[in-house]
Amino acid sequence: METRVLPAGDEAIVEAIQLLRAGEVVALPTETVYGLAANALDEDAVRRIFAAKGRPGDNPLITHIASLDMLRELATDIPKQARQLAKVFWPGPLTLVLKSRGKVAPSVGAGLDTLGVRMPANETALEVIRRSGLPLAAPSANLSGSPSPTKAKHVLADMNGRIPLILDDGASPVGVESTVLSLVGEPTLLRPGFVTAEEIEEVIGRKVAVAGAVLGPLEQGRPAPSPGMKYSHYAPRAKMILVEGGLAAFAAYTKERAAEDVWALCFEGDEDSLELPGRVYGRVGDAASQAAGLFSALRALDRKGAVKIYARAPAREGVGLAVYNRMLRAAGFRRVHLDESGRPEDTCSEQFGG
Ligand code: TXA
Ligand code: MG
Repeated sequence: METRVLPAGDEAIVEAIQLLRAGEVVALPTETVYGLAANALDEDAVRRIFAAKGRPGDNPLITHIASLDMLRELATDIPKQARQLAKVFWPGPLTLVLKSRGKVAPSVGAGLDTLGVRMPANETALEVIRRSGLPLAAPSANLSGSPSPTKAKHVLADMNGRIPLILDDGASPVGVESTVLSLVGEPTLLRPGFVTAEEIEEVIGRKVAVAGAVLGPLEQGRPAPSPGMKYSHYAPRAKMILVEGGLAAFAAYTKERAAEDVWALCFEGDEDSLELPGRVYGRVGDAASQAAGLFSALRALDRKGAVKIYARAPAREGVGLAVYNRMLRAAGFRRVHLDESGRPEDTCSEQFGG
């Protein structure tokens, strides 16, 4: 199959709608990452998404909508908190897990009776949904396990020959996938994102529980509250190690480990202090810039042939929690904490089988 890339615009939107109505899969831009979209009501179309990505069938998809009417058609028992959050954060990078009416195709929910749903903040994606009248199931448009795509060229690298059309709307401004919040039972953060737990708490006026897998691997034998937590994710081909500590410690630690095809994944301005080549993913202390640059940097390091990556860890507060969560998974949970002189204090690496 030939994969075409069209600039976002009226012509591209019309073509995307034709293909989606015919049960095809189309890559669409969103504010978080590019999505691999199909008609959420059409089981055959949704199965094509799983096939194109090589995604395990037990990992459910997020359904994308353009109106609250669409939400009411697809979800039931919608709590007040969902309405409050939708009012503040939609369109935007927040996915709500609600009770499903069972109207979406069975594969969307992968056997669950809940539905992950969000309204994306991208005019092209919204226009496609509005004009087609179709809710769109869309996971990130990468091959399963690879870093999520924040540019059309990333989608093409993974999906060339697998889907007919990619709509190119430039770089995704947020850069990490949406926050996933379950509102079935106690409000629980299943995946951190650009909308933070603190911001959610402020709107709903109560504490949000954080699923254990947000900051660590899922415990063996425990059911996954969000099936996506089970899988290795966002990973470059290189072996990555997440390094916690200041710049001087990082420089000392990596100096001893510099070798061919060993790279640093670091903050702007760090390169001058390092004895190994560095790829920047954002500015120190600026989590939004780190989120926007992370996946693109991981893909760039793959293209450079990196075999090992030492990555400077972001601060874990606010949006930084989302960045940390993605980096920990990209590193297969390998991480090391340095003291001021650059000596490892504790290493939580191979113990997780990474
Ligand atoms: O920003 C995003 O969310 C992007 C763009 C394209 O919208 N999409 C995305 O989809 O990241 P995906 O499939 O890569 O990740 C969806 C995550 C998975 O971890 C999945 O397990 C979880 O959401 N999820 C979806 N439906 C769920 C449900 N009913 N219950 C619990 N978790 C759910
Ligand atoms: Mg994904």
